[in-house]
Amino acid sequence: MNDLQPKTIFLSDYEVPDFLIDSTDLTFDLNAEATLVTSVLSIRRNPDSNKPTAPLILNGQELKLQSVALDGTALSAQQYELDDEQLVIASTPDTFQLTIEVLINPQANTSLEGLYKSRTMFCTQCEAEGFRKITYYLDRPDVLSEFTTTVIGDKTEFPVLLSNGNAINQGDLADNKHFVTWHDPFRKPAYLFALVAGDLDVVNDTFKTCSGRDIALQIFVETKDLDKCDHAMNSLKKSMRWDEEVFGREYDLDIFMIVAVDDFNMGAMENKGLNIFNTSCVLAKPETTTDATFQRVEAIVAHEYFHNWSGNRVTCRDWFQLSLKEGFTVFRDSEFSADMNSRTVSRVENVSLLRTMQFAEDGGPMSHPVQPPSFMEISNFYTLTIYEKGAEIVGMIHTLLGAEKFRQGSDLYFERHDGQAVTIQDFIAAMEDASGRDLTQFKRWYSQAGTPNLKVSDHYNADAQEYELTFEQSCPSTPEASSSDKKPFHIPVAIGLLGDAGNLPLQIKGSGVNSETEDNTNLVLELTETKQSFVFSDVKEQPVPALLRGFSAPVKLHYEYTRDELMQLTRSEDDGFCRWDAGQQLAVQVINDAMDAYRAGDEYEVDQRLVDAYSAILSDQSLDKAMTALMLQLPSEAYLSELADQIDVDAIHYARQSVRRQIANKLKGAFTSTYKANTSAASYSPSAEQIAQRSLKNVCLSYLMLLGSDDSLELAQDQINSATNMTDEISALAALVNCEASGAIAIKDQALGAYYNKWQDEALVINQWLSVQATCSLPNGLDRVQRLMQHPSFDIKNPNKVRSVIGAFCNGNAINFHCEDGAGYKFLADQIIVLDAMNPQIASRLLTPLTKWRRYAPEQQELMKTQLARIKASSSLSKDVYEVVSKSL
Ligand code: TRP
Ligand code: ZN
Repeated sequence: MNDLQPKTIFLSDYEVPDFLIDSTDLTFDLNAEATLVTSVLSIRRNPDSNKPTAPLILNGQELKLQSVALDGTALSAQQYELDDEQLVIASTPDTFQLTIEVLINPQANTSLEGLYKSRTMFCTQCEAEGFRKITYYLDRPDVLSEFTTTVIGDKTEFPVLLSNGNAINQGDLADNKHFVTWHDPFRKPAYLFALVAGDLDVVNDTFKTCSGRDIALQIFVETKDLDKCDHAMNSLKKSMRWDEEVFGREYDLDIFMIVAVDDFNMGAMENKGLNIFNTSCVLAKPETTTDATFQRVEAIVAHEYFHNWSGNRVTCRDWFQLSLKEGFTVFRDSEFSADMNSRTVSRVENVSLLRTMQFAEDGGPMSHPVQPPSFMEISNFYTLTIYEKGAEIVGMIHTLLGAEKFRQGSDLYFERHDGQAVTIQDFIAAMEDASGRDLTQFKRWYSQAGTPNLKVSDHYNADAQEYELTFEQSCPSTPEASSSDKKPFHIPVAIGLLGDAGNLPLQIKGSGVNSETEDNTNLVLELTETKQSFVFSDVKEQPVPALLRGFSAPVKLHYEYTRDELMQLTRSEDDGFCRWDAGQQLAVQVINDAMDAYRAGDEYEVDQRLVDAYSAILSDQSLDKAMTALMLQLPSEAYLSELADQIDVDAIHYARQSVRRQIANKLKGAFTSTYKANTSAASYSPSAEQIAQRSLKNVCLSYLMLLGSDDSLELAQDQINSATNMTDEISALAALVNCEASGAIAIKDQALGAYYNKWQDEALVINQWLSVQATCSLPNGLDRVQRLMQHPSFDIKNPNKVRSVIGAFCNGNAINFHCEDGAGYKFLADQIIVLDAMNPQIASRLLTPLTKWRRYAPEQQELMKTQLARIKASSSLSKDVYEVVSKSL
């Protein structure tokens, strides 16, 4: 910031708006440098406001005001006040019409917020507070208005003119221009407004709703991408059907449109009836798109579609309620993905993300409650905590209430609050009212930040045949509250007890225990106190406890399993999550040994039990192949870092690598035969079966490539050359690029060159090529990244390119980013300073790895802090970057 610090906004200061806007009539006369926006607003004083003489204060940024008229009479400059952030009219009637004309410059808008140009098209992004860059307005989610939008543009350049709702009028104008008028019958906050104009092609389809209405479905793309829309369209139809069947939600408008744009800060946006997507989250075809992206497209299309109810029909009162729509909608899209694919695999993937990334966020300087009490810049709060932890909380409600009561709660919520802007507390109240359960204590999940620790101990009394489990919870200090001030959470813990022959029947001794029995081998214990014990009777043998089945709560569980117990769980635990996690815990123990040896300069021979476990997994034909592939992967460097007291980047990298290489050596035969058995000539489909098969095959390949033998190099080359899909092509390329063998150098360069020549016209494919190189863990990573930034395919104004190169390097290449002299940190700070002047949201997000400085050794801490301080001292910092830098120093 230049001089004054940005101000902090508090949830506790919330007041209802002093004015309401019943209708909003917009006209856009599109022009790249000077678009004229005319708005006609029907305004009245809010009967619920207790300030009957309050001035009208409209938000506005980067606007050139042309005129303001009240009930048709132009206001003179003395009748209003104008500054960089608002337009204030001190005295107004109780009901009136305000007409405002502003000029905006979409071409110069590199923040990608408001109205901007992406390549040849105009598009908008208004969430959270971007509408104020379009015109003066009450830009807050509790002001709901009926929008009518007329878009005027050149007929040749912009044959397609779109906005929310239904097209109600269109026609030709002078000077080769034309117009389309759109009307959205559903009142909405300004953040859901959208406009698109361009020379776009369209894929059309239809959907018949449960009540028999026909909905027109359209996906708009540039002509070159017309062949990449089928998967998104199928995903959309599946989402629409699923939301009817599982949540009883029918689509409301007669048309649903999706537009793909290249320059976009996030994944996608749920604008009413006109979702706008980052091309990376909607386009897909086998030759260019990996399996992971096929699944991502399906999930994001669903997520944005589901917002039509959880977000649009029922919206947020203020931005402190962001998780009301995001947590609930992520829960809904995760359930959808679980139903469309393997439920266990989906769950493991979600938990992995949560434990690696969200736990790290919750333990860092930006840690915040799911309902934050304050913020400077709301864009900084589109976090893993709001989205993923928010979804876990909704999931816990689902566990506590059961599927049926949960559905009744959701129905009541939508029915009670349709057309309203509400709070997280309203959501909980609907769940309570429908189920009769008291969620008072449970609500602490929304107000207390930090990941709870859950220590579990046990005792078996053979004489009494009783088994006791004791749980102790605590929550670390976070910026808003110290550990000692935190109150116990209400935690659902799903458990089972394993005996030699499988699950033991569970019977709790005594009374007064809040547990809900699903069957007699699976129990949900409800923890509500700091320390709590449960005694099971009739336990005939010393059991191994299976704890937190399905990851029933977002906590860090601590129970001292022996390696043999972990082996038993990986072999025979029923719950897929616990079974996978047991393998992870075993591997963590082994890698920790390897790290100790690395630091002592000793050789380390891998614990044979881990090799045996992997060997058993490879030959277990009863396992789903996607599960086999997951279970064969060692915990990531990021997860190992999250578990460490102090992150030792080198030890983590080299220890993990050494364990991987030894496993590859010892199980070479099994990896080779599994690889061969899963090579298929079938034509590509993104089906669960095929995805599972490819992922298992490629896990085997990555192990075999660690051997660096001529055989394995040949295997990778053959796979690249014969690949019929991007999953196989890019997996082999990544394995080759990371191969240390000297024989690989020439082969790599040749393969990278050939890939570029083949795909240079496909931006999204080139992004993968950039990422593969940016994340290569071999020495001299920083040089490689700096060279990539000089490559013609790089463009610092395009967020996808920035994420593929700078983001990939700083977040996915620890060994190079954390190089000893701090050059990686300086590089990142340089990029942030450049980017902040163009796109503050992207600059701010990119900062994350530097904010984690407290987790590293003292010398590294100093180097990281120096760069943060440098960023903080740079002139005209955005609010976004200022908030993150100042909170993390
Ligand atoms: N509401 C969007 C979603 O989760 C998030 C989003 C898209 C967003 N674009 C944004 C948030 C720009 C902030 C800024 O689906
Ligand atoms: Zn969302």
